[in-house]
Amino acid sequence: MRLSGKIAVVTGAGSGIGRAIAQRFAAEGARVVVAGRTRPGIEETARAIDAAGGEALAVVCDVTDAAAVTHAIARANEVFGPVDILVNNAGGSFGDDILTFDEDTWDRNFDLVLKSVYLCCREVLPQMIARGSGAIVNIGSVNGLTGIGEEAYGAAKAGMINLTQNMAMKYGPHGVRANVVAPGTIRTPIWNERLAERPNVFEALTAWYPLGRVGEPEDVANAALFLASDEASWITGVTLPVDGGLLAGSYRMNVDLSGGATSQQAPVSSRE
Ligand SMILES: NC(=O)c1ccc[n+]([C@@H]2O[C@H](COP(=O)([O-])OP(=O)(O)OC[C@H]3O[C@@H](n4cnc5c(N)ncnc54)[C@H](O)[C@@H]3O)[C@@H](O)[C@H]2O)c1
Repeated sequence: MRLSGKIAVVTGAGSGIGRAIAQRFAAEGARVVVAGRTRPGIEETARAIDAAGGEALAVVCDVTDAAAVTHAIARANEVFGPVDILVNNAGGSFGDDILTFDEDTWDRNFDLVLKSVYLCCREVLPQMIARGSGAIVNIGSVNGLTGIGEEAYGAAKAGMINLTQNMAMKYGPHGVRANVVAPGTIRTPIWNERLAERPNVFEALTAWYPLGRVGEPEDVANAALFLASDEASWITGVTLPVDGGLLAGSYRMNVDLSGGATSQQAPVSSRE
């Protein structure tokens, strides 16, 4: 088991990617603090972990609220002990276009996506530094690496990458690693509103992915597990896209240039 004896805190673990990470970490031997804004989701995750023979503690925590974050980490310490692994996964996106949304919307994105990382990291870093080891995995987004819309969300995710690099540089000498996983489209409840408007959104988006599908929460959990584990003991400050090849190149442009054919269905002329 790759996380035996470790204590992990996963934020936003009541659904989607956070739930998959919490379950995967527990299956690898970690005791997991399942943190999230609302109780039903985190309790469901904790129950699933218990049922699979793992150990979990559900803690209600709004990651934008400094006092709530302090309380959640204190509970983690009280029940399990010092935190070895922090996964800053809680997130969400509000508004899409700087010409249409208001300042509150801008602030909501930055509070949830970026300030939360600062609040959670400042709470666990002192105990990681004191023990000379720790791993932070921040769940970013391809939106933080290139322009795909959702401007405030994308800018905040880009800020998360820079904050991660600074933490990697400053606290590396204390044995603390910090990395980002940047997912592409992942099939989670974050898409529920859009799915209600456009039921075939995943099928439409599949056309952008060289690997021919959108992602599943487990795809991100696998990458988070690697970066949190000792297998990544010499990796810090990196951003790992988990995106089915979305950022590898202009796939759709390439398909259009090839007359609409993918490499699996190469035009007859190019096969001869
Ligand atoms: N699904 C995707 O396509 C996708 C792509 C790139 C990045 N991401 C990122 O992955 C992360 C997880 O998202 P998901 O896709 O699993 O969606 P999700 O909506 O299932 O999960 C987000 C979780 O964060 C929790 N949360 C929201 N605000 C919170 C707060 N203030 N305090 C504590 N918890 C809060 C929600 O309750 C929810 O459980 C997010 O950071 C998101 O930006 C998702």
